[in-house]
Amino acid sequence: MTHPSIVILTGAGISAESGLGTFRDEGGLWAQHRIEDVATPEGFARNPQLVVDFYNARRAHAATATPNAAHAALARLEAEYPGDVLLVTQNVDGLHEMAGSQRVVHMHGALNGALCAACDHRWPAPLEMYVGQACPSCGQPTARPDIVWFGEIPYHMDEIQETLSRADIFAAIGTSGNVYPAAGFVQLASHVGAKTVEMNLDPSETVALFEETRPGKASETVPLWVDSLLRR
Ligand code: APR
Repeated sequence: MTHPSIVILTGAGISAESGLGTFRDEGGLWAQHRIEDVATPEGFARNPQLVVDFYNARRAHAATATPNAAHAALARLEAEYPGDVLLVTQNVDGLHEMAGSQRVVHMHGALNGALCAACDHRWPAPLEMYVGQACPSCGQPTARPDIVWFGEIPYHMDEIQETLSRADIFAAIGTSGNVYPAAGFVQLASHVGAKTVEMNLDPSETVALFEETRPGKASETVPLWVDSLLRR
């Protein structure tokens, strides 16, 4: 008997209890910074120092964070569940990997990655990047954080959509359902008959599209959900 295949989407809410801010909660990152200034290619072109400083600060903050019980539960699911599990994250922190998850798809990039805007070369980002940093491959002063900004195409969409098209279970954890294409994954999953579940502190914008909701803190709801899958 084949085990149901699982696709999980996580957002900033899963890292909230690890001390990393979310974007749209009270006092969140988008209350402190204008998206157009720090998370768009235009913002980077207009004031690269502001953007480099913003990601240096987030990288330093993320370096102090440790995974919480929700990250650990997803790593346990991947290790112990006999079926296929794909973990897609909108987060740019490395907490899923620190918790032991191995198959993690960062659709919005990652703080620990650097990208050359001229030749597309990628390499591990230093803790502090600086404006005009040279690309180790082409040598041009065009290094930038390897983060998907608004207006740019998220990464790994082919793999994500292909896996979603075969999903039996889709779970969204700690995401407000405000940003597409991630917010549309629940519709793709429902369309192919997958069971859908939302685990969020507050109902997301797309909560009505989920068959099941498990409201609460991820550190409490996710381990219980994983237990229910492993007990099968
Ligand atoms: N447990 C579970 N959910 C939580 C917790 C928690 N402890 N704390 C907050 N949440 C929920 C909030 O209720 C909210 O719905 O997490 C969600 C966070 O939503 P956002 O701040 O909008 O973050 P996210 O959905 O990941 O944003 C998506 O937007 O700005 C872009 O690229 C950025 O990847 C990000 C994308």
